[in-house]
Parts: sequence; C-alpha cells; structure tokens
Amino acid sequence: MARIVAGVGTSHVPAIGAAVDHAKTQEPYWKPVFDGMLPVKKRLAELQPDICIIVYNDHASRFGLDLIPTFALGVGAEFPPHDEGYGPRPVPAVQGDPDFGWHLAEALIKDEFDITIVNELTVDHGLTVPLSVAFGQPQAWPCKVIPLLVNVVQYPPPTGNRCFKLGQAIRRAVEAYPRDLKIAVFGTGGLSHQLQGERAGLINEAYDNKWLDALVDDPAEAARIGHVELIRETGSEGVECIMWLVMRGALNQEVSVSHRFYHVPVSNSAYGLLLLEDSTS
Ligand code: DHB
Ligand code: FE
Repeated sequence: MARIVAGVGTSHVPAIGAAVDHAKTQEPYWKPVFDGMLPVKKRLAELQPDICIIVYNDHASRFGLDLIPTFALGVGAEFPPHDEGYGPRPVPAVQGDPDFGWHLAEALIKDEFDITIVNELTVDHGLTVPLSVAFGQPQAWPCKVIPLLVNVVQYPPPTGNRCFKLGQAIRRAVEAYPRDLKIAVFGTGGLSHQLQGERAGLINEAYDNKWLDALVDDPAEAARIGHVELIRETGSEGVECIMWLVMRGALNQEVSVSHRFYHVPVSNSAYGLLLLEDSTS
C-alpha cells in the first residue's frame, strides 16, 4: 500500500528559481534563505519519496481566463517547464506517473471531488520552485511528480475548508493504492504578499506566523479562515496559502514539525517553509 511520508509547505517565489538558475544562492542576500532550506533537503533525501504530489496554482501560464478549473490534476507522463517570459527555466522536465495519476483522479472523483483531468500540462514557477527548494539542481528530479492545481487567481477560489477536505481525500486515495510507494505532499504559495495595487509589497510577519501555528496545531481552525480575512491580513496573493491546507489535510491530526523556517523579505514576498511528518507516538 502507498503511504504519505511527509508534508512540505513552501512559498514558490519565482526569484528563488532565478537565484538557483543564475548561481546566486551563496550571495549575501540569498544565503540565509537557502541555508534555511537545507534541513528539508536533507530529510527528504533520507525519506526518498517515490512521488511528490505538488499542490500549486498556475499563474495564467498554462491556463488563463478562458479556462479556470477550481481543481485540476496532471495525469500525463511528462510536464515541461513553462516559458514565463524569459524562456523556460533550465530545470529537468518533470516526470509524471500516469498510473498513479489516474488512480488519484478516479479515487477523488468517486469521493465526490470533481477534479479536472489534464493530460497536456506545462508547469510554471508555482511547481518548479518548490522542486528546486526540495531537491536543488539535480540532472533529473529524484521522484515522479503529480501536479495538483488550485485556482487562487480568479475569484471565486475554493474555500480553505474545501482544500483541507481535499487533502483528507488524497490520503484515503493514497492508502487505497496497492503499490508500496512513499508519497510526499507539497502545499505551495504565500505566505503574505501583494504584487500589485496600493498595498503592493505588503508583508505581515505576525499574521503569517500565527497562521502557521494554527496550520500545524489546529488545522480545522486554519481551514475556517475566510478569503476576506486572508486577503486583508496577508495581501491579495497571500490567499495562495489555502493550498497548504491540502497538504495538511493529507497528514494526521497529530504531526511533528521536522523543520520550520520563515524569512522576510524574499523579493517582495514573505518566505515560509514547513516540513511535517505524521507523529508516531
Ligand atoms: C511572486 C510571484 C508568485 O507567484 C508568488 O507566489 C510570490 C511572489 C513574485 O512575482 O514576486
Ligand atoms: Fe504564486
């Protein structure tokens, strides 16, 4: 049977990917950020997940206003990096797992989550930056990847609670898969940031940390927080944090925090990183 071995929460700030691609990670601005990621890289290298389910949002790259799936699942064999304006990132192509992807689609839809199934998918910084955070710059990514997309760009996004319940359904689906695979679930995006308008540059360190506390200790409470509060407190794009609730829902109520890191600013955003594992005691 497949099982969930870790939950990772990470912001997916595109400048992190650019720092990796342009060999800037040891420069004074970036070194503290990349040092803060090291324990996660180390622990994931020990756990060796076979598949990472990466929950992220497309930033008007593969999708646009013509097509806005609330939840979408990539079931293809390969997902090339998207050209976001500077050429595709020089990272390996992301390998999917069609058998597990179709299993997830079937299990989630039978569990009453009406997921959009995507065969052809290019992946933007929302997915490739978390891979760089977790695995650095390998020749090939060390695991298969299932992209799970959430609409947090165009109103109305799903509620935090719906995201949390989707995570719980993902756990049921994983545990119903007969192959003996280790699965990690990544929730990405956030934390506080606003990229445009009068409040551009907004960062709310106190709220972000309070929200992280709730996510770890009382996720049902974090899931009840509405979009208006999140946008007021963490900026218009801060609402991306609801995707971390999918990851949290896939874990036990009791978790241990293997690593927690927060750094401001990263570009014009807050950077948060969390590695959770199910409590064994
Ligand atoms: C930026 C973009 C993002 O998608 C994000 O989540 C954080 C920051 C940016 O353009 O700086
Ligand atoms: Fe984003």
